[in-house]
Amino acid sequence: MSNAVLKSAGVDQVFLSEVIAGLSNAPKALSPKWFYDQRGSQLFEQITQQPEYYPTRTEIELLASISAELGDQLSDREALIEYGSGSSRKTRLLLRALPQLQQYLPMDVSAEFLRGAADGLSKQFPKLHVRPVVGDFNSTVKLPATVQSMTRLGFFPGSTIGNLPPSAACSFLRLRREELGRGGKLLIGVDLRKPVEVLLAAYDDSAGVTAAFNRNLLLRINRELGGDFDPDRFDHQARWNDDHGRIEMHLVSRGLQRVRIDNHCFEFADGESIHSENSHKYRLGEFKLLARVSGWEVVSQWTDPQQWFAIFLLG
Ligand code: AVJ
Repeated sequence: MSNAVLKSAGVDQVFLSEVIAGLSNAPKALSPKWFYDQRGSQLFEQITQQPEYYPTRTEIELLASISAELGDQLSDREALIEYGSGSSRKTRLLLRALPQLQQYLPMDVSAEFLRGAADGLSKQFPKLHVRPVVGDFNSTVKLPATVQSMTRLGFFPGSTIGNLPPSAACSFLRLRREELGRGGKLLIGVDLRKPVEVLLAAYDDSAGVTAAFNRNLLLRINRELGGDFDPDRFDHQARWNDDHGRIEMHLVSRGLQRVRIDNHCFEFADGESIHSENSHKYRLGEFKLLARVSGWEVVSQWTDPQQWFAIFLLG
């Protein structure tokens, strides 16, 4: 999910400048979009399989249970546009259940990533037109002409929207409203508020996979930017921020230490943290309101029996 990869001497300059800026701030913070190098993506895949991490399996079960009903709300020729397609399990589920999805447009900033996603699905669904779109979520993308005549269904699963503060989530939703056009709909997965113990366990699994995922950011900085972090001297921590209704992930310095990255030196006090992720958890009413102020109507909403996760069809 990085910006256009500007490289000089093999270093991603956007990554470098964001890391330098983020660690120069007080409090220190990094964007979660940098988690997803190859190892980070693997670790995220493993997180989704941990018993404590309920969102993925809850959303998949929910999607499977609503697919027939969802099909009734769609036209007979739809283009499916997926924002930042992750593992394609959820996409496959939709494509199998909804034959009216005739075109698939995965959208991501990584052309390499898109190629992988497109190849896999083309093999499994030979009749499907797969058209990867390289694009950044912070702007609208001009969709290929073949899609202009079809109704569009945007797909943004996984509660990835939870990474954004509500103001940025609103901008994202407005842009998609514009891009998906007349008759366009958006199918979006949203993680809900629930007991804090459940949330904390989901972001601090007992096998330590989320901790490894969080620390991998430091390893990536070492590898790609020539940093000298000692990841073992940073503790993984998940915190519930009740004022903002969000889980936060932090990397907390064990002891006073200095870290160098590309001629910059950063000092960490004992217990000082790098804030590496926010994952907002909505109440149903809060998300509905957010959707409405962003120019959408709620066509349908579904939740699992525990009301841990919601899927909204916006139109
Ligand atoms: C991919 C952003 C939805 O917030 O649950 C999982 C990322 N971070 N465990 C989430 C994540 C730590 C995930 N999202």
